[in-house]
Amino acid sequence: MRNHELIERLSHLVGDNGLVLDAEGQGPYVRDWLGKWQGSTPVVVRPRNATEVSAVMRLCHQTRTPVVPQGGNTGMSGGATPDGSGAQVILSLNRMKRIREVDPVNNTLCADAGVLLADVQAAAREVGRFFPLSLGAEGSCTIGGNLATNAGGTAVLRYGNTRDLALGLEVVLPDGRVWNGLRGLRKDNAGYDLKSLFIGSEGTLGIITGAVLKLYPAPAGRVAAWVGADTPAQIVALLSRMQGVCGERLTAFEMMSAHCLDLVVAHVSGAASPLAARHAYHALLELSDTEPAGLPALLEAALGAALEDGVIQDCVVAMNDTQVQTLWRLREGISQAQVRAGKAVKHDIALPISRLAAFVEEADLALVSDFPGLPIINFGHIGDGNLHYNVLLPPDVAPAEYARLTAALNRRVHDLVAQRGGSISAEHGVGQLRRDELRRYKSPVEMDLMLMIKRALDPNQLMNPGKLL
Ligand code: FAD
Ligand code: MLT
Ligand code: ZN
Repeated sequence: MRNHELIERLSHLVGDNGLVLDAEGQGPYVRDWLGKWQGSTPVVVRPRNATEVSAVMRLCHQTRTPVVPQGGNTGMSGGATPDGSGAQVILSLNRMKRIREVDPVNNTLCADAGVLLADVQAAAREVGRFFPLSLGAEGSCTIGGNLATNAGGTAVLRYGNTRDLALGLEVVLPDGRVWNGLRGLRKDNAGYDLKSLFIGSEGTLGIITGAVLKLYPAPAGRVAAWVGADTPAQIVALLSRMQGVCGERLTAFEMMSAHCLDLVVAHVSGAASPLAARHAYHALLELSDTEPAGLPALLEAALGAALEDGVIQDCVVAMNDTQVQTLWRLREGISQAQVRAGKAVKHDIALPISRLAAFVEEADLALVSDFPGLPIINFGHIGDGNLHYNVLLPPDVAPAEYARLTAALNRRVHDLVAQRGGSISAEHGVGQLRRDELRRYKSPVEMDLMLMIKRALDPNQLMNPGKLL
């Protein structure tokens, strides 16, 4: 079917306001947040509800039109960007913003997939509950995108990944049928766990249109600390101690190298190092509780002991919310600072926490020897074993050199990760960034199982072609 015919039929399904046709309007949809990928599309379709998504998908199925689902377009792996063929329709969920139900007794919230993560958090707060998923992009990413990437973020240590926070899903299948799995049940063994198939499938199996999410009691207070240490091994030792002493009250534990802090101080206005001396590594940790009275004393006692035992070199504590937020702004400024500083070769790796420090030591040595002079930007969610072990290239690096270095650095870093039983894709998704890497590191059996699932659900290969598989 010709484009103009397709567009006319789509406009009958979603109305003229539901289509973006002009190049200027399409701009923010066809390039990604990092500015790394740029594609093209005949049309951005913006349905208002699952019924309209279903009608759009039925039409795309009949006409064999490939579809790229898109939420807030904050993804880091190019998963929401179409290719350059001009044949792939973008299906944006950004008009589906309804909180359908909040049930504080069942501790659940049901939302359209296009609701911003920050709005889900706010809706939970309004009924005295807490939705714990938390990431730097929470003001612009959608809950559908979080589910499709199985996003992680900074609260995984205590509450788990997005997968752990979802009880039910509504999904429009590639042929337009709607699967209503919006069950708010904590026990449901009636057959295969279908929702888990779609969570983390990055738009390759269907369109997530709604979800039932878990809510938690709202923490009544939090305290935090910024720590200076010499090595990742010391940071890991502190993590272990804090978990032992604080249990579930330890809600976040992040690590960043001195280089990351330097970048934030240089590129984020108002940012300043919290400690007087320079340290090779820093940790940001947070304690929270529904009964916060004992938190300051607990934090001070635990850190005091760590200082005395030489596990860490220095620390500063944040005892009110303004101070806590100031520390978090430093951590959350890293992504933006990196973009401003140059072109990063990004890695999103996971390792058993017990092997993290040895990995960093070995990888640092390998990179300093094989890629001298390239700054390593090492930070991440060390409490979950997830590091963004990135390498910064100059902003004006030539495209061919960028591609050559990316391939060489990927091989060096990912081989080390694989040797230590890690994963090359922890929380950002595979998208187009790591698609070829995935094939290299997954066993033929695992790849075959994934391809069988893909063929069963999307036999015409119309869902987000070129991503993940
Ligand atoms: P998009 O970018 O629009 O899409 C991401 C993928 O999901 C694509 O493959 C797309 O096709 C698919 N998709 C989107 N919506 C749907 C749907 N409804 N149905 C089916 N498929 C869909 N990520 C983390 O995990 N942890 C972090 O700490 C973190 N921090 C970030 C900080 C910043 C500053 C930024 C810019 C990004 C960060 N991210 C982080 C990455 C990103 O925010 C997450 O991947 C997020 O989950 C993407 O949501 P989105 O709505 O923007 O999805
Ligand atoms: C983070 O942890 O800040 C994010 O995942 C974003 C990034 O890697 O830049
Ligand atoms: Zn992250």
